[in-house]
Amino acid sequence: MSDEPRQTMRVAAIGDLHVREDNAESYRELFGEISREADVLVLAGDLTDLGKPKEAELLAQDLKACSIPVVGVLGNHDYECGAHEEVAHILRDAGLKLLDGQSVEIDGVGFVGVKGFAGGFGRRMLGYFGEPAMKQFVNETMNETLRLENAMRHVRAKRSVVILHYAPIVETIESEPLEIYPFLGSSRLAETIDRFKVNAIVHGHAHRGRFEGRTPGGQPVYNVAKHIEKPTGKPYAIIEV
Ligand SMILES: [Fe+2]
Ligand SMILES: [Fe+2]
Repeated sequence: MSDEPRQTMRVAAIGDLHVREDNAESYRELFGEISREADVLVLAGDLTDLGKPKEAELLAQDLKACSIPVVGVLGNHDYECGAHEEVAHILRDAGLKLLDGQSVEIDGVGFVGVKGFAGGFGRRMLGYFGEPAMKQFVNETMNETLRLENAMRHVRAKRSVVILHYAPIVETIESEPLEIYPFLGSSRLAETIDRFKVNAIVHGHAHRGRFEGRTPGGQPVYNVAKHIEKPTGKPYAIIEV
C-alpha cells in the first residue's frame, strides 16, 4: 500500500433534476449513494422544473444527504419564474457551489461553470444578422462564451472540469429532433473550451441525447442529463479526472 495521495478524483455528474413543487421524486437517497461512490458531485443545470423558490427549497433539503462537495450551474428552467437569483441564493445556502462564470478549485481540480446558451452548431449556427432581436440572441451566446473564457483563464489547477447546461457539440444531443438542435446549444462554447486543455466537459439540457462525444479539439464531452443512459447504469455518471 502506498501513502501517496490519490491521483484521480471521482466526479459524479447529473443534470436536469427538474425538482417540482409536488416533490414527486426525492433525491435524498441518490445523493446519499453518490456521496459513497464519488469525491465531488456536479449538477449540470435545470435543478428545478420552473425556477420556483419552493422547488429550490425542496432540493436544498435533499442536498443535506450529500456529504461531498457539490458544484453546479443553473439551467434555462431555473430562470422560468424570473426568480433565479432567489433560487441561486437558496441553493448556495444549502452548500452548493453555484458557478455562473466563475471557477472553484476542489482537491487540486479546477471546476469552471457557466450556463451557456443556444445558437446552433458549426457552419449552420445563427449569425449576427438582421433584426435587433436576432442580434440580441447571438449576443447572449457570445456573452456566455466570453464569461466562460474569463473563468477558464483563472484556473490554476492542472486538472479541470467544465460544467455547462447547454451542449457545446452536436454528438451528445443526437437522437433529439433535428429541428430543435439550434436551441440545445452552441459550438461557440466548444470553440472557447478548445483554446484550453481540460479533462472533461459535462452538460445537460438535451434529455434525449447521447452520453459521450468529443469537441473538435478532441476533448471529452458528457451529456449527464438524468434521462441519458450512462455506463454506470445509474442516472448519474462517474467521470475520473
Ligand atoms: Fe432539462
Ligand atoms: Fe434545459
